[in-house]
Amino acid sequence: MIPENFEKSLLAVPLTERLAQIATLFQGKKMVFSTSFGQEDQAITFAIATQKLPIEIFTLDTGRQFQESYELIDLTVKKFDFNLKTYVPNTASVEVLVAEKGFNSFYTSVENRKECCFIRKIEPLNRALQGADVWITGLRAEQSDNRADMPMIEWDTQKNLYKINPLMDWSFEKLETYLAEHKIPQNPLHKKGFISIGCAPCTRAIAEGEHPRAGRWWWESSQKECGLHA
Ligand code: ADX
Ligand code: SF4
Repeated sequence: MIPENFEKSLLAVPLTERLAQIATLFQGKKMVFSTSFGQEDQAITFAIATQKLPIEIFTLDTGRQFQESYELIDLTVKKFDFNLKTYVPNTASVEVLVAEKGFNSFYTSVENRKECCFIRKIEPLNRALQGADVWITGLRAEQSDNRADMPMIEWDTQKNLYKINPLMDWSFEKLETYLAEHKIPQNPLHKKGFISIGCAPCTRAIAEGEHPRAGRWWWESSQKECGLHA
């Protein structure tokens, strides 16, 4: 299905062209893009929305995000004028979780943290990806050791779809320049030391020299992934 050299040809062109080529290759297939409204996702949203590409843009609202993040969502949708599909956690699952373990169970063990991530992110993600042929994300190789070896395009055997990470080769500097050049709105928390932003109770600002993902689930020593990108 994917022509040889397709990835190579993507590497040679700017971001808008990358997304346009992906949309052309998978014409007629269901293409979805997941955004947390982080810096990477904002660049991709810009490329999709300004070209009006037939790629559904969705977000997973965990119910625990920062007020700044919710403000950015509204602002971005208004500025780039696109339909955002929002998935929220299953009501009954959240009701049972908080009844049994309270509102902040994620701090008490890795198991409890993963349970919360499953209910608030993974299960809704599985619903969002139902029927999709292509899943586009904002992952970059530089973000973590775990992501360093990820290809730009891969067949996800678990989810049965192509997972495409069009910013895989971008540096943080390149991303920042791109956002500034195109006046793309960003979360004001980035200026306050938050680089990778997830849920409010599970994200803190990082100090200079710290790893960009050090602020995610900071109380855990090794876990820096929630399972969205297994
Ligand atoms: S996470 O696994 O640690 O939460 P990260 O914040 O680095 O992920 O984001 C990586 C990519 O995962 C984003 O570019 C986006 O495609 C997807 N993603 C993460 N969080 C969400 C979310 N709340 N809604 C939709 N997509 C998300
Ligand atoms: Fe729950 Fe924290 Fe995971 Fe958000 S990041 S879903 S609040 S454990």
